[in-house]
Amino acid sequence: EGEKEGEIDYVFKVVVVGDSAVGKTQLLGRFAKDEFFLDSKSTIGVEFQTRTLTLHRKQVKAQIWDTAGQERYRAVTSAYYRGALGAMVVYDVTRRATFDHVTRWVEELRAHADGSTVVALVGNKADAAAHRREVPADEAARFAEEQGLFFSEASALTGDNVERAFLALLEEVF
Ligand code: GTP
Repeated sequence: EGEKEGEIDYVFKVVVVGDSAVGKTQLLGRFAKDEFFLDSKSTIGVEFQTRTLTLHRKQVKAQIWDTAGQERYRAVTSAYYRGALGAMVVYDVTRRATFDHVTRWVEELRAHADGSTVVALVGNKADAAAHRREVPADEAARFAEEQGLFFSEASALTGDNVERAFLALLEEVF
């Protein structure tokens, strides 16, 4: 998409958080490169991917940070959240516990990120919801509304809603 250095008007840092194996890395890969890997390995430490896109005629480089959901790798906090304009809290619609932990992720965000950071809640693995859903969409939507978060269900596997979720977040940051 005509990604030329030097033509970037803004760099938006976005962080993705959530329990291990909810699909953070795959959501990122889908958005940044339109890729998906079934045998995704757990993230160790911090990685980021970028995608440059045009928003309101400006070249915006979205720099999206991905970190390990596993407790034992979670030494990062302040540095990870520093300067984040947007954040995506991800849970897995087929695993109730990952939704129950969303509150903790939102608290961590509020504690470490800037007060103005835009936060989106994403229920991933919507492709598997028909048979294995453990989190009703309306319950998640209600929770998101109470907390003032954007909400959508998405699937990194099919790509459904991934673009929309990231774009809505970036639009709001803009
Ligand atoms: P950590 O790095 O441990 O924090 O995990 P993560 O949240 O980055 O999860 P990751 O992206 O590595 O995905 C975990 C597993 O879920 C992998 O086996 C993926 O293939 C699978 N997965 C990710 N997204 C989807 C999805 O949308 N649908 C389905 N069915 N599986 C998915």
